[in-house]
Amino acid sequence: MIRIHVLQHSTLYPRIKIFMNNNKGPLAHKPDYLVCACMGVMHSEICDSIKMGARDINTLSQELMVGLGCSSCIQEIQKILDNMRDS
Ligand code: FES
Repeated sequence: MIRIHVLQHSTLYPRIKIFMNNNKGPLAHKPDYLVCACMGVMHSEICDSIKMGARDINTLSQELMVGLGCSSCIQEIQKILDNMRDS
């Protein structure tokens, strides 16, 4: 139950960001979603890090702290890496 308490705080910020992306800004026309709920990291943030040179999950974890909680997002992060590598 303590873990849920911690997650409640980390998930507030991404919800605000989703709301902002739906209204205006350069991401307004692009779908965005929460990939790492534990650390509140959005798909667009992971893509930005990959574009800036992150090539593996360890680097993304160091930069964004993705995957450092429950680790359930690791498979999705790997898919994003693979998709961006192929495109
Ligand atoms: S969703 Fe738990 S570490 Fe990413």
